[in-house]
This record gives sequence, structure tokens and C-alpha cells, in this order.
Amino acid sequence: TRKIAVSGTASGIGRALAGLLREQGDQVIGIDLKDADVCANLGTRDGRALAVESVLRLAGGALDGVVACAGVAGVTPLTVRVNYFGVLALLEGLRPALAAAPAPRAAVVCSIAGTHAVDPDVVAACLDGDEDAAVALAERAIEREAGALLYPSSKSALARWLRRVAVTPEWAGTGISLNAIAPGIVLTPMTAPLFADEAMRAVMATAVPMPLNGHAQPEAIGEALRWLISPANTHMAGQVVYVDGGAEATVRGPNV
Ligand code: NAI
Repeated sequence: TRKIAVSGTASGIGRALAGLLREQGDQVIGIDLKDADVCANLGTRDGRALAVESVLRLAGGALDGVVACAGVAGVTPLTVRVNYFGVLALLEGLRPALAAAPAPRAAVVCSIAGTHAVDPDVVAACLDGDEDAAVALAERAIEREAGALLYPSSKSALARWLRRVAVTPEWAGTGISLNAIAPGIVLTPMTAPLFADEAMRAVMATAVPMPLNGHAQPEAIGEALRWLISPANTHMAGQVVYVDGGAEATVRGPNV
């Protein structure tokens, strides 16, 4: 039985992934604010430490996979705290437990939003590992009504961190495959409020066109994550794979 830690299992993509993994016989250790094996707030330093410690205890010190799905959208510094610093703390805290496994895998959930406009100062503070500065800059962005840049900033920073570390001795060098799935629009509680707003629906249609099969169900992303953390994935490292109905290819075009 493979032991996989998954954050965000109480809802949406994390819940779908946990279901798929349990179906195939894996042991899932779910982490979320509530309704999970480990209840912890990944937006705080104490919550992250509690999450890592509790997962390690439940896993008996060794893990085959870690998937960081938990995330928040909206105009709030929590985007930076949870989507970037919370993800890093979980992955870095659990990395030593992965390194001992025969086929260790890790994955995160980025976003098509990571290709949209960002606040470069917030991204830089994230990549510097300076959470207090990133949050202060996020608060300033909200004050000048640029808070919509924060979610894309958190996901852009995460993608850049991933590409930097995935190929280092700590990750690739110890046999841990670390990659990301970047969804387009997925029908989960996170996006439900967007559909209630007609102006937002028009913005989504332009910013995230999905010519292949339209908006995705969370299982579609769960399936992609399941493969990323499977033993079959022996050679992917540092990749951000768009599972977005063609949104990235449509918007960026053929010449990237
Ligand atoms: P969701 O809102 O359905 O689920 C997110 C889960 O994360 C919830 O169970 C929530 O309680 C948990 N969470 C939030 N803050 C937390 C914290 N501080 N500590 C612990 N757990 C926390 O959202 P969904 O759609 O399943 O999103 C999952 C991931 O996919 C997120 O990282 C999101 O940014 C990303 N994503 C989602 C897209 C979509 O269209 N739904 C598109 C692209 C990326």
C-alpha cells in the first residue's frame, strides 16, 4: 500500500483525488481545515508545523507521495499564505519522509491564472521566501485595488519555485519527481460564486477559453494528479502540465 498525503481533501480537486487514490488501494492522509485526517490551517506557521508533524506520525515516518491541493482564491493575502507558503512548508516538511520511499512523487496544483498578469513584487517576495514582506505587499495591492493580481501571483510564484527546486539534489537527486498540474476552470466550490456573476462569466470566457470539453469536473484534474504521483511517472521533473481544455494553448498561441 502506498501512503499519500493530500491537502485540501475536504472539497473539490483534493477530495476527488483522495477518492481516486483510495479506490486503487492507496492509504490517503488528508489534510484540511476540517473534515480531514489532519485538521490544520496551512495559512499559518503553527498550522503548517502541526500538519507536517501529524502527517509524519500517521504515516509512521515514511511517505510515497505528497500532493498539495489546498488553496484559496479571492482578493486576500491568504492567497499568498496558503497557495505559496503553505504549499512550500508542506512539501519541504514532508520531503525527508519521501526520500526513503522506492518511488517517491510529489505534485502541486498551479493554475492557468499563473500565466495571467501578476504583481511582480509579490512574486519576488515569495521567491525570496519572505512571507511577511509578501503579505505586506499583498495588503498594499488590495489597498490600491490591485488585489485581483494576488491569486495569479501566488500561482505564478509557485510554478517558478517548482521549476527551480524540482531539478536540485534535494528533489530529483533523491529520486523524487516533483511536478504541477495547472487547471483551467474546474467546477468546484471555489469557482461556484464566479458563475453567479454575469460579468465574471464573460471575463472567464475570454481569459480562460476551454475549446476541449469546456469547464472540467474535479475528477479530470484528480486523474492527472494521480498519474503524476504514480510509480509509472519515472522521468517528469519540474513540469507545469496544463489540464485546461486548451486554454493555455489558445491564449498563448503556438509560438511560445
Ligand atoms: P475548493 O475550495 O473546492 O477546495 C480547496 C480546499 O482547500 C478546501 O477544502 C479548503 O478547506 C482547503 N483549504 C483552504 N485553505 C486552507 C488552509 N488554510 N489550510 C488547510 N486547508 C485549506 O477548491 P478547488 O477548486 O478544489 O481547488 C483546489 C486547488 O486547485 C487550489 O489550489 C486551487 O487554487 C486550484 N485551482 C482550482 C481551479 C478551479 O477552477 N477550481 C483552477 C485552477 C487551480
